[in-house]
Amino acid sequence: MGRFVAATQQSRESAIQAALRPWPHLDSQCEPIKRQGILSSRACLLAALALMGVLSGCKASISEMPIGTKVQIQPPLGLPPVPFPANNPPTVETIALGRKLFYDKRLSKDNSIACASCHKPESDFSDTVPRSLGVAGKQGLRNAPTIENAAYLPVQFWDGRASSLEQQAAVPIADPLEMAQPHEITISKLGVDREYAAMFQQAFGSPKVTLGRAEKALASFERTVLTGNSAFDRYEYGGDQSALAPAQVRGLAVFMDPHRGNCAACHSVGPNAALFTDGKFHNTGEGVGEDGSIVDAGRYHETKVETDTGAFMTPTLRNVARTAPYMHDGRLKTLKDVVDFYAGGGNSNPYLDSEMRRISLSGKDRADLVEFLQSLTGTLPAHVGPPDVSSENR
Ligand code: HEC
Ligand code: HEC
Repeated sequence: MGRFVAATQQSRESAIQAALRPWPHLDSQCEPIKRQGILSSRACLLAALALMGVLSGCKASISEMPIGTKVQIQPPLGLPPVPFPANNPPTVETIALGRKLFYDKRLSKDNSIACASCHKPESDFSDTVPRSLGVAGKQGLRNAPTIENAAYLPVQFWDGRASSLEQQAAVPIADPLEMAQPHEITISKLGVDREYAAMFQQAFGSPKVTLGRAEKALASFERTVLTGNSAFDRYEYGGDQSALAPAQVRGLAVFMDPHRGNCAACHSVGPNAALFTDGKFHNTGEGVGEDGSIVDAGRYHETKVETDTGAFMTPTLRNVARTAPYMHDGRLKTLKDVVDFYAGGGNSNPYLDSEMRRISLSGKDRADLVEFLQSLTGTLPAHVGPPDVSSENR
């Protein structure tokens, strides 16, 4: 496939140039302000966030603190306790409200797309196409990751540009390539619905719909979308030596060994729980063009630190057998493709992560790794599917 490109001076320069190119996705979100030509794109993002705060209603007078019945979310085998912010403890009522919002197409401009249209429950809350289609068939710029276990991520998005699930939740609603609906319209559309009025009342103490309340409810619902208790968990944490097939046990050894797969250097596995992500950003060289150019500068968009160019957040590997296609651009179709990519040491480029090295894996090692990745398919709770379908999701 010619995935290798020498890290020449030229490729370094083109990588820097690519990084400095404006990123349409982020810039388009700031368009109304940018057109006035007075603000840099970063300042513009801050201004947009401030504006969102204003639009979400008089925060001082309308409480956004959940008032209902607090819930202790029980993580399945293999996951640590679920973190949540002090101002948004999960409650029965906010979780139910968030679930309804997650499946509601009215969050989009033409009532055609819900969060679940791209984070499909039947595909473990990821999308089946490399890049999702938003309102009017507009194609997004990155692959839709699963929201399963996103509760544990320190920041959200491939480039970490949202600092919490709460902060992430409203972004796709207004994104012109996704749901394309201004926040004040979403608020007024939901505001005329009696069922929502009752649910906001129960969750927050008054029927008023605000963006902040909707964000909190969506985040609390997402915190319940947890997957664990896979064959791997039963083997590693449940003491069931028969849970993994022999090929999977061999694959696990390759995965953990720094001198063989070295996968756990980034896809972390702890003594009592495993998220299969370190929550950090790495350049694996995935998405680097034939000429060494970096198409999507990833984490660099957020930090403007040159060495972050082409770095993306390590994704979880739980349920990875069910979330194809892979990588931030959805370029790799199968787990075999991914393992072959790593066996080549990633695509060389000036910012390649130091943990990415050419590893020597036999055909059998690679097959064992793929078998092991299959063992990460776990369970989901019963109440995460569409709210009107009371039966289980799986
Ligand atoms: C049109 C498709 C689409 C829709 C609709 C959509 N998303 Fe996403 N979602 C994506 C894509 C693509 C990304 C990755 C974007 C990036 O990282 O730049 C993403 C990222 C996320 C993440 C970050 C996960 C991670 O691992 O970093 C969360 C959480 C999320 N979406 C939740 C939601 C919620 C909640 C809604 C509804 C309010 C929603 N999404 C609507 C496509 C979509
Ligand atoms: C240097 C850190 C690092 C190492 C080492 C590493 N990964 Fe990754 N992994 C990542 C990052 C970052 C991504 C996302 C890359 C992108 O989209 O550009 C990723 C993506 C993946 C994906 C795609 C997941 C998805 O949902 O799209 C799979 C599968 C995967 N890695 C498996 C492995 C295996 C197997 C190994 C060992 C052979 C390994 N990784 C080694 C950091 C790492």
